[in-house]
Amino acid sequence: MPLLIRNARILTLAAPSISGQTAPGRPRRGKELGALGIMPQGDVLVVDGKIAAVGPKVEAPAGSEVIEAQGRVLMPGFVDCHTHICWAGDRLAEWEKTLQGMPYAEILRTGGGIQGTVRAVREATKKQLAAHLKTRLDSLLRDGTTTVEIKSGYGLQIEEELKMLRAIVRARNEWPGTIVPTALLGHAFEGDLDEYARMVVKEMLPAVSKEFPEITVDAYCEREAWSVAACVRFFEKASKHHPLRVHADQFNSLGMIPEAIRLGARSVDHLEASTKPDLQLLAQSRTMGVVLPCTGFHTNQRYARAGFFVDAGGAVALATNCNPGTAPTHSMPFAIALAVRFCGLSPAEAIAAATVNAAAVLGLVDRGTIEPGQRADLILLRHKDERQLAYEFGGNPVDQVVCNGAVIR
Ligand code: NIG
Repeated sequence: MPLLIRNARILTLAAPSISGQTAPGRPRRGKELGALGIMPQGDVLVVDGKIAAVGPKVEAPAGSEVIEAQGRVLMPGFVDCHTHICWAGDRLAEWEKTLQGMPYAEILRTGGGIQGTVRAVREATKKQLAAHLKTRLDSLLRDGTTTVEIKSGYGLQIEEELKMLRAIVRARNEWPGTIVPTALLGHAFEGDLDEYARMVVKEMLPAVSKEFPEITVDAYCEREAWSVAACVRFFEKASKHHPLRVHADQFNSLGMIPEAIRLGARSVDHLEASTKPDLQLLAQSRTMGVVLPCTGFHTNQRYARAGFFVDAGGAVALATNCNPGTAPTHSMPFAIALAVRFCGLSPAEAIAAATVNAAAVLGLVDRGTIEPGQRADLILLRHKDERQLAYEFGGNPVDQVVCNGAVIR
């Protein structure tokens, strides 16, 4: 049945045209990020899962379902382009230690952190892993996320990483939104890093490539995790077949940004400890920057300088980084509220970073904007002014979610 959403304040995020050409999936960079393409009062018609028409007055075909927006904000569904929501167990005991002053890096060094979740994931049955994932996916959808990227990375052995990736891919059958899996094969290591990284390159990567030929791969470049050299060896091999993303500069700036650019990575994620010259370099490249302010909020109050990056012409995206250790939240509205307070983004820039630019990080050009032909992933806020999305925090600002054209009840 067609769906007409009437009398909405529409954030189209339609691409500003470059020499007369529009490109829905082109990431917004620099000043463009603040342009939300607002239609102050308009209608959106959805037919067969796609946006059929957008305009000040659109006629509803006979038999359409009609939603009266009464001036509320209608915008693209959130794209959460960096999460680790496939996990088992919890990290409450270690969180208490951090409350008493133990830093996250110290927990990693002493065999807790990621390794604790690795143990829990290995113990979990496929059914348990799938059930945890489903619960989290449903929470995401309620808060307006219609596309989510989910990383593996808590397996650390070939069969365990495959178990995670299979659970992530299988969850697609049970969730109305879009799930994009990422093989995080360089998240941590067991034993000696060089030996472990060699095993990943020689054995784990081929096994993953065979079963998931087009999957994006990722690694965590940090003192207690993978070194720059290990990441580079892994990415040089992987780049022949897979898009690349990298976690870098979460606690220490180790020099991964220039390498990621050289390797043509799709994104560098975190950036809390990045130097200004590195951010400038990244801003001038095709590699996007992904900022994850929920992590600074939960761990060390350190935030990426996204405003500086955008002023330097960078293409920034925003994500929750939902994970049990550094960001136990699935809320994109909360990530927006933090990005505006601590990362130097304006509310409009944060909205673009959470929608069209986040979709670009995932290589998805069919969403993140409200334009004819785009996939109908839409959210109707309870607010009539989009700045409220950043201003309020702690609640759910989403009144209605439309996913692939279907109204989620
Ligand atoms: O991005 N830094 C690496 N990965 C996650 C943390 C994962 C965990 O602690 O379980 C992050 O913060």
